[in-house]
Amino acid sequence: MKIIGTGSVLPKKIVTNEMLSQFLDTSDEWITTRTGVKSRHVISDEKLEDMAIEAAQKALADAGISAADLDYIICSNVVNEYITPQLSCIIQGGIGASCPCIDINCACAGFIFALDLAESHYKAGKVKNVLIVCAEEPSRMPDWADRRTCVLFGDGAGAAVLGPGDNIKSIKLSSSSATDRLWQMRRLQPTPFITKEEEDVPLQMKGQEVFKFAVKAAEKDIRRTLEEVNCTPDDVDHYLLHQANIRIIDSIRHSMEQPQEKFPTNIEDHGNSSSSSCPILLDECRKAGRFKPGDLISMSAFGAGFVSGAVLFEW
Ligand code: UT7
Repeated sequence: MKIIGTGSVLPKKIVTNEMLSQFLDTSDEWITTRTGVKSRHVISDEKLEDMAIEAAQKALADAGISAADLDYIICSNVVNEYITPQLSCIIQGGIGASCPCIDINCACAGFIFALDLAESHYKAGKVKNVLIVCAEEPSRMPDWADRRTCVLFGDGAGAAVLGPGDNIKSIKLSSSSATDRLWQMRRLQPTPFITKEEEDVPLQMKGQEVFKFAVKAAEKDIRRTLEEVNCTPDDVDHYLLHQANIRIIDSIRHSMEQPQEKFPTNIEDHGNSSSSSCPILLDECRKAGRFKPGDLISMSAFGAGFVSGAVLFEW
């Protein structure tokens, strides 16, 4: 397939590190040096589904196709206010499409897993045009009294439309169960029969273990995509990495021995927006005129599960 349109939407409320320091035992200095985040956009009165629909409409307008031309909608989401229906069905109604829809929860790696699904359906001859929307509100997951987690995240929606083409050169995915490193639980409605104990547990994270996993997995995934098509790290024009921590991005860059100019970032004013991070960065780079036709782009993301993946594609 080929990415033929992108779009993104951010909530209007901007929360700076200084604002966080007013109610948490933290500082701009700590957050900036340990993560690279200076501020983030967080949901206040917006509904995530409205942001997802708007991002989808922008991507369709950019692609120059209508919702009626879509054959499949994939939405990547970890949490939103609806347990059911799936967010992709809400997006379908909002944009006026009528094709099948599916939601996936592959945490922060959702965009890469969604690209793989789209590409597989395309190669099977089932679809021509696919809409991927990553819509995330990770600010709703941590305990906002927990300085170790709440400072990291920002919300947003990023979308991409894919059409016929052979621009996706390689995709590699991996999953390895590590359910005690990054997790959250919610209590469901009680029934007359439930006897087990259930808890509401906000987001829990073993930060250093996630950090080490991220660096190792991303480098491995990226190298596997390159090897499959006989390319080297030097052949890549742009590395678009999941915006989780600037130190993770820098470690990957150093081990790939690549210059900083190839690694655009927006973590400074977005924080970690889970699976939306990659398509938002993609959309911002496109709008900034950063890509030329034929440029080789490597995108990689990792998240809870653990899951990780990389895709190599031509612009
Ligand atoms: O999309 C995937 C999601 N997650 C990630 O990608 C996270 C990956 N991990 C990380 O990014 C880093 O591990 C963190 C940014 C989460 C933490 O950085 P770190 O350098 O690993 O710090 P640490 O957890 O080792 O904590 C160092 C100290 C601790 O204090 P003590 O025990 O040394 O006294 C923490 O309590 O920093 C303290 N600390 C803070 N201090 C000020 C933790 N959070 C904060 C904070 N402000 N916000």
